Amino acid sequence: MMGTGSLPSLLTACDSPTGPPGTPPLETNPLRFAPEVAPHSLTLVASAGIAGFGNGVEGPAWLLNESLPSPLLRVRRGDPFQVVLENQLPQDVILHWHGLAPPADMDGHPRYAVGTGGEYSYAFTVEDRAGTYWYHSHTHTRTAEQTYRGVAGLLIVEDDEEGALGLPSGNREIPVILQDRRVDAAGIPYYQPFGPDLMAGYMGPEPFGNGIRRPWIEVDSALYRLRVLNGSNARIFRLGRSDGRPLVLVGNDGGLIDRARTLDYVDLGPAERADLLLDLSGTEVGDRVMLRSLSFSLPGGAGFMGGANRQGQPLDVLEFRVTRRVEEPAVIPDVLSTVPGPNPEDVVRERTFRFTSEMMMHRINGRSFEMDRIDEVVPFGETEIWSFVNDSFLPHPVHLHATHFRVISRSGGRNQVMPWEAGGKDTVLLHPFETVRVAVRFTAHRGLFLLHCHNLEHEDMGMMANILVE
Ligand code: C2O
Ligand code: CU
Ligand code: CU
Repeated sequence: MMGTGSLPSLLTACDSPTGPPGTPPLETNPLRFAPEVAPHSLTLVASAGIAGFGNGVEGPAWLLNESLPSPLLRVRRGDPFQVVLENQLPQDVILHWHGLAPPADMDGHPRYAVGTGGEYSYAFTVEDRAGTYWYHSHTHTRTAEQTYRGVAGLLIVEDDEEGALGLPSGNREIPVILQDRRVDAAGIPYYQPFGPDLMAGYMGPEPFGNGIRRPWIEVDSALYRLRVLNGSNARIFRLGRSDGRPLVLVGNDGGLIDRARTLDYVDLGPAERADLLLDLSGTEVGDRVMLRSLSFSLPGGAGFMGGANRQGQPLDVLEFRVTRRVEEPAVIPDVLSTVPGPNPEDVVRERTFRFTSEMMMHRINGRSFEMDRIDEVVPFGETEIWSFVNDSFLPHPVHLHATHFRVISRSGGRNQVMPWEAGGKDTVLLHPFETVRVAVRFTAHRGLFLLHCHNLEHEDMGMMANILVE
């Protein structure tokens, strides 16, 4: 349970991140960036360690190479990917490269988890489009805890096509992992799920960016590329700007979308990414712009679960403090890319996956995950329509390994394909009682892959299926 020590205003503040009127604002902290490394002859050591969370607060975390978040891996399309995972944690672990489509034995299926003292070698060629991917623990029944404690990082793929667009780069590129956390009286995040968390998933009232609580970053009055990952276990963010200006979406899970989209807000369920252009041109020194998660409600009562940690509460997630005025053109390209993907006209087969949450059981088509049971056999290269049916009052971010799908339609709930769901997606958010149809085709590798809910508590409790591509 939460402490009641020195932060009572925080613990009772559910609607305003700065607490009820009259309470002093809590400390905010400079954003940090994980070290950037190339995944070539790289060893990632998983171990228990100490991390800083901002404002001098330090506490226990589970880390890769002693870094929170895990190192940012940057690689070019076509390059080799060679990483050895060394496990010094007191439990099994395996890593998954979320969004990449490597061979099946390189994909981090939980049956490859290695015990304490063990290691796993990954070697493949990166064939994926430029984009914002990530990696995290995929140890069955332990993914939620290990990812929450820190075994997660960004993975950026670059290629010539994207390079030619001249999008903001270098110090004009801000990669950030947004996460919500529960913290104790000392400000240290903790993971102690109990009853309601096993239904709604583990949510907390405190925003963290790249492992730092309530982060801010100093910026110039320029155009920035913001690569955002929702790395939360269960929290959905509705990202918008505090100054009323729009966000410009240029990419998502599968890399660049076709054309830039100007949006008032972008919803990100757990594991989804948004590649955004943040136009700060025209701001003045001293201006502050907050990237915030706006208030929203879900149908079916899900928003009421979890009390102060409930889904849809507003959060200030990252503040931009303008400290330098520059005159440089903010050029936003209109046409971005041609997104490859299955053509719905080539469909040869349909399948349905029904997601249910009842009596603390999260299932797909009535079944809980079993490591050695094959749930679906899918022919390599054939285009199919998959219907993801949410037959529950909880949201489910549905994730598929080994390919990117196209969102074709949504019925029930929001009744439309959302503008941020253009392009190739590997995760799609289902609100309560929505059905989303996607076009799927596996063209990278044959073998055993996974379909699961990326609410990590749901995944750990068995909302996952083995998909054999052959
Ligand atoms: Cu990000 Cu199977 O997971
Ligand atoms: Cu994945
Ligand atoms: Cu779920």
